[in-house]
Amino acid sequence: MASKILIIGACGQIGTELTTALREKVGNNNVIASDIREGDEELMASGPFEILDATNFEQVEGVIEKHDINEVYLMAAMLSATAEKFPMKGWELNMNSLFHVLNIAKAGKIQKVFWPSSIAVFGPTTPKLDTPQQTVMEPSTVYGISKQAGERWCEYYYKKFGVDVRSIRYPGLISYKTLPGGGTTDYAVEIYHEALKTGKYTSFLKEDTELPMMFMDDAIRATISLMEAPAEKVKVRSSYNLSALNFTPKTLAASIRKHIPEFEISYAPDFRQEIADSWPSSIDDSHAREDWGWQHEYDLEKMTSEMLEGIREVHHV
Ligand code: SER
Repeated sequence: MASKILIIGACGQIGTELTTALREKVGNNNVIASDIREGDEELMASGPFEILDATNFEQVEGVIEKHDINEVYLMAAMLSATAEKFPMKGWELNMNSLFHVLNIAKAGKIQKVFWPSSIAVFGPTTPKLDTPQQTVMEPSTVYGISKQAGERWCEYYYKKFGVDVRSIRYPGLISYKTLPGGGTTDYAVEIYHEALKTGKYTSFLKEDTELPMMFMDDAIRATISLMEAPAEKVKVRSSYNLSALNFTPKTLAASIRKHIPEFEISYAPDFRQEIADSWPSSIDDSHAREDWGWQHEYDLEKMTSEMLEGIREVHHV
């Protein structure tokens, strides 16, 4: 059966690039983009689009039925920093949207679901270095609690009801096409924009805060390859650890300085420092590598070159 795909949250940082990649793969008309508001021109012009509130069951089910969808990528979410400001809103968006999609899959109306988890499922008591797939998980943010609960529900729906749900614990994602919104790792995107615009940046995390990160191309490739893997290879049905690179604001600034020698960074940590301090510095992703052949392509130098070039081109800086 040809894939008919629905992307919920298609106008966000991941959704925008996922929509383009899937449209190239399976044809523009086979990928329905949806979001609570319209996206950029390219996304809107490249294929079908629906306005959709992910927390509204009837709307989600209606779009799935209208377009005869068999695969859903649920990318709508409130990220860590914003969810700390609006805890109940964050919880409701992140959980209700997931239940809607899982229940529609349980009813047999869709065959496959992708749902993103995050390094935020880990907490201050988790081993920080090479964090294993299975370990202590006591998340201390609303976002992390919602992702941790979501992972448990994904595995539950797989085991109890045979729902084919697949998931990745994304690290901080770096991209130039669409800005991230409301995350703790957003500094690693903002820094490139400011380096090109003003030649300086004030980081909201301390210079030595090391976090796991990944260039968007790698994240999109991982997502599609997990979804394409034969079901029996997908052994983890909560969510897979996934890793590419780890860096601090200081090392990131040094890599930018290789292209813009006069670039200056300063530090003014805010409430996001505590969130970052509760997350791992590096991740052991051997299960993803063994089960479905994950390999990253971008290191820090390659990513920095691509980011600076991409921002110049797309944002005319
Ligand atoms: N990048 C996300 C955030 O910072 C983590 O999944 O909230």
